[in-house]
Amino acid sequence: MKRQAFVVGTGHMVPEAILTNADLEKIVDTTDEWITTRTGIKTRHITDASTATSDLALEACRRAMEDAGWAPGDVQAIIMATVTPDHAFPATACLVANRLGLPHVPAWDFEAGCSGFVYGMIQARAFIEAGLFDRILVVGAECLTKITNWKDRASCVLFGDGAGAAAVSSQGPGGLLGGFHWGSDGAISDLLVQQAGGSRMPATRETVDAGLHCIAMNGSETFKHAVRAMRDSCMLALEMDGTPKESVDLLISHQANYRIIDATARALDLPPEKVFVNIDKYGNTSAASIPIALDEARRSGVVKPPMTVVLAAFGAGLTWAGMIVKWS
Ligand code: ACO
Repeated sequence: MKRQAFVVGTGHMVPEAILTNADLEKIVDTTDEWITTRTGIKTRHITDASTATSDLALEACRRAMEDAGWAPGDVQAIIMATVTPDHAFPATACLVANRLGLPHVPAWDFEAGCSGFVYGMIQARAFIEAGLFDRILVVGAECLTKITNWKDRASCVLFGDGAGAAAVSSQGPGGLLGGFHWGSDGAISDLLVQQAGGSRMPATRETVDAGLHCIAMNGSETFKHAVRAMRDSCMLALEMDGTPKESVDLLISHQANYRIIDATARALDLPPEKVFVNIDKYGNTSAASIPIALDEARRSGVVKPPMTVVLAAFGAGLTWAGMIVKWS
């Protein structure tokens, strides 16, 4: 019988401290009204100086493992999507694996911007179907506020910190990982970039002074590509799955901007009650946004069998991805 991959547990973690739109009004020239109407964001959770991405990821993984009923010895690999690792190297996944007490399993980071979690789920599906592993942790974790330019009102209002994880198993019951589509376009990589700190522009006093280690984004251009990429990857994922869009029960999309989520929902002819939205609370947490939303949707009973869920993402790269997950 063909091997299949199922989501059997989820967990998330956000830091306690909350930054409101009113707080941002004191930092940059903005208003609660502008942020709310242009993005849908009201608050975001932010880490303190002593908290790093691995701290959030660790707790999200613990919660996903508990939800799945897994002991540390059950986990055979851990894959982490992040653009804000604790260090350039070693991989943050290795640090998390050690703190979870996993038994020397393969652990690695990869980067696909905000599409990272769905990219990770596609990898998990492939590894499980190929028979390499039976139980994998897929994590999306970020501390975006550590690389936010607090002088740039067009971007600093958007980002928050958090982590989400999924336990993926060859044994159900759970959410069956189905059809997917993923892609990228490096020709427009300059729309969303952290200029300095890599081999192209190593860190110097000047790069730090110029704020080149922070997120730089062309918001309106990114917006246009995001709407097209999310719509197309959802449609292609549905096609691969052999599922008509009329059968979709819930859209869980990357939480970057409410208007982007709404445009994707309209492309799928989905009414608001079939769209999960928590951007108002968390802002854009990049690779963490979909697993945080998935966990909240499961724990609050919004996701319940039988249900066909579409995951949709886009982000720096640019990258995009869609995946169908079926709870039966
Ligand atoms: N408060 C008040 N005014 C603002 C703010 C602000 N915080 N930010 C921008 N403005 C102003 C601009 O200066 C501009 O003023 P002007 O017309 O006088 O020049 C006006 O608002 C409109 O600016 P736009 O950039 O055209 O606004 P837009 O409607 O496109 O919204 C936003 C901006 C929210 C950034 C939107 O473009 C967006 O969400 N883009 C996608 C972002 C995204 O999803 N990024 C990818 C993921 S991030 C990652 O991968 C790490």
